[in-house]
Amino acid sequence: MAKIEDRETRKRKRGIRRSRKTHIVSLSSEHRQSGRLLEHNEDETSTASVSKVARSNSSKPSNFLEKMRARLSGGHFRMINEKLYTCTGNEALCYFKNDRSLFDMYHAGYQEQMSHWPEQPINIIIKWLKERSPSLVVADFGCGDARLAKKVDNKVFSIDLVSSEPSVIACDMANTPLDSSSIDVAVFCLSLMGTNFPRYLHEAHRVLKHGGWLLIAEVKSRFDPNSGGADPKSFSKAVCDLGFTPFSKDFSNKMFILLYFKKKENQCSGVKKIEWPRLKPCLYKRR
Ligand SMILES: C[S@@+](CC[C@H](N)C(=O)[O-])C[C@H]1O[C@@H](n2cnc3c(N)ncnc32)[C@H](O)[C@@H]1O
Repeated sequence: MAKIEDRETRKRKRGIRRSRKTHIVSLSSEHRQSGRLLEHNEDETSTASVSKVARSNSSKPSNFLEKMRARLSGGHFRMINEKLYTCTGNEALCYFKNDRSLFDMYHAGYQEQMSHWPEQPINIIIKWLKERSPSLVVADFGCGDARLAKKVDNKVFSIDLVSSEPSVIACDMANTPLDSSSIDVAVFCLSLMGTNFPRYLHEAHRVLKHGGWLLIAEVKSRFDPNSGGADPKSFSKAVCDLGFTPFSKDFSNKMFILLYFKKKENQCSGVKKIEWPRLKPCLYKRR
């Protein structure tokens, strides 16, 4: 009798141990599947630590899974964001062509980050446009969810690497299908991401009419020489060498700067070598 009880107790104990193991393994494999994307990310969580958290959270699994999903998608966002800041526009185009879901993942993370900003630069640009004639034709370079086009009465050509709306032109903004001298306002709102960003500004110069506006909103830290950012003066000089006149600038916001230029009416012919400063990537911290 004692022998049978012992055997049954041992069986029960083995069963408990096995079911605990299964729980940990299934969480680890969920992590492993996403780990392909997390390889180089600071957010990477080792299987061991996932298992440890799994054990301590076993009483409320849905809460735990939600937390882990949020952590993983935050990690994906940071990794895609870093990729976009460290490759050319054409490489970014191929990256999203290979896997469109990466674009959606990036934008979900981007919206999450933006929700912590007291003010979004795109709203300032929308306000700026609303104070001007709706007859101005606009090109929104790196439009994201095309919010600008949705909020103003102007004709807006929305351009991005992926077309999230039927109206968005999917292309690398270094080479758009827009006609030369056809645009009144070219907007770059947090979109000078690629390492070949000067090519995007050359393209804006091509499509803008003489006297047309160039509006640039960029993350402030990218223009802070004290933390490795570019000197705003050398950036402005390069834009002017391209064929623009500085109109105004706004450094009042804590998170971003705004630069307003106008395309020169008459440009001296001749090719001038432009010295573009390097724009450092804007990497987001883990929250
Ligand atoms: C940080 S988001 C900003 C989106 C939008 N302008 C806003 O302010 O909400 C930058 C956008 O630029 C796009 N982008 C980056 N490089 C691009 C390129 N070479 N051609 C077209 N779009 C590009 C990205 O896909 C992304 O949607």
